[in-house]
Amino acid sequence: MEKNTSVENNKKTWSGRFNEPVSQLVQRYTASISFEQRLAEYDIQGSIAHAQMLSAQDIISTADLADIERGLQQIQNEINSGDFVWLLELEDVHLNIEKRLTDLVGDAGKRLHTARSRNDQVATDVRLYLRASIDEIINLIKAMQSAILDLAEKHTNTVMPGFTHLQVAQPVSFAHHLMAYFEMMKRDVERLTDCRQRVNQSPLGAAALAGTSYPIDRELVAQKLGFDGICRNSLDAVSDRDFIIEFGSCAALIMTHFSRLSEELILWISPAFGFITLADRFCTGSSIMPQKKNPDVPELVRGKTGRINGNLVALLTLMKSQPLAYNKDNQEDKEPLFDTVDTLIDTLRIYTDMFAGIQVNHDAMRNAAMRGYATATDLADYLTQKGLPFRDAHEVVAKTVQFAEQKGVDLSALDLSELQKFSAQIEADIFAVLTLEGSMERRNHLGGTSPAQVKFAIEQARQWLS
Ligand code: ARG
Repeated sequence: MEKNTSVENNKKTWSGRFNEPVSQLVQRYTASISFEQRLAEYDIQGSIAHAQMLSAQDIISTADLADIERGLQQIQNEINSGDFVWLLELEDVHLNIEKRLTDLVGDAGKRLHTARSRNDQVATDVRLYLRASIDEIINLIKAMQSAILDLAEKHTNTVMPGFTHLQVAQPVSFAHHLMAYFEMMKRDVERLTDCRQRVNQSPLGAAALAGTSYPIDRELVAQKLGFDGICRNSLDAVSDRDFIIEFGSCAALIMTHFSRLSEELILWISPAFGFITLADRFCTGSSIMPQKKNPDVPELVRGKTGRINGNLVALLTLMKSQPLAYNKDNQEDKEPLFDTVDTLIDTLRIYTDMFAGIQVNHDAMRNAAMRGYATATDLADYLTQKGLPFRDAHEVVAKTVQFAEQKGVDLSALDLSELQKFSAQIEADIFAVLTLEGSMERRNHLGGTSPAQVKFAIEQARQWLS
């Protein structure tokens, strides 16, 4: 049998009532085949389920069904082996496959489109594609979370400065800091899982917009394709792209989390911080400055967040003025969606790998915490426990810090007699309070930074992941 070859005289499947062919420019402008070939496998799955339903309902014969199944299987094989010829003249993935099917199996191929339109067909394809993409993305986020836990487990006693306003605030463990990202990603997984339910609804049977006069069984098709349910209104079924926008917004939040993490990695590897190093394969050098090691991967993740946000805005804008039901505008949903999925998948893969190669410089983290009077709040809490109102304690500590600053030392390096000048209530037990470790240790409640609490958080996180 011949392969798909060019269509005679530029003749279209739908061109029965047209007097002249479309111009080359219009053909290129309106075709979607250059970017939607990835939908082919879902188009074939959808077509097989549709044909099986048509046969079960006696709308086509079992012989036709057998021909359609055989033909579509062969087309899938040709696509897999790279032998399938995609033709621009055939516009889109649906018509390319249908034409090839008809070449292969004759009239049965022409019967496949009974009780169906490309409008419900494309909505089905995109939903199946997005469902599979969401499943893959959830697995990749979980792999990243697992890499976070592996690193966190080693650092429940590693002290670093916790920041507010990027000023040293209070000591936290590196593990505790990392676990904040675990929480963000947990919400990302929950959001995607929720979004998946609305993605996983079957539009098939809506046909062009109004439904069909054939005695179809929508539930049967939905069940065959693993959908959770069916779109309840035929107009909505063919025009709804909310599920893509919803996914785009989940994706924007995921990238926002990775962009924040990237910003931190970039700061941490800069020599001014020196908290961590990244494996060389994630960095590049400078063509002029031999000493440089640039964190290109985190920088690009931060940069690519812009495209994902842009894709979301493009999708929202695409929908905002469309009257019901299907409009060709909808074809523009694919490139932003595919770009978002591809960027997200690459980002998650690269990040998980990068995390496994993080080396921690304990001394640099600890010294940074020491430099910022990170235990000042602990001194205030100590005085409050001795009966001083918190506001008064706050003032005593502010003066003590000022004194230590002038002397150029940490609070823990002041003598007891020096400390007592600021409050007679300070006693020798203060020195346990002023250490970074002591400060962490005492934040011993759910969600706090004490090593015991962070170990518990890691344990719970492992359970959630499994
Ligand atoms: N390529 C089209 C899309 O992506 C397929 C549906 C075409 N439907 C139509 N009535 N022209 O939306």
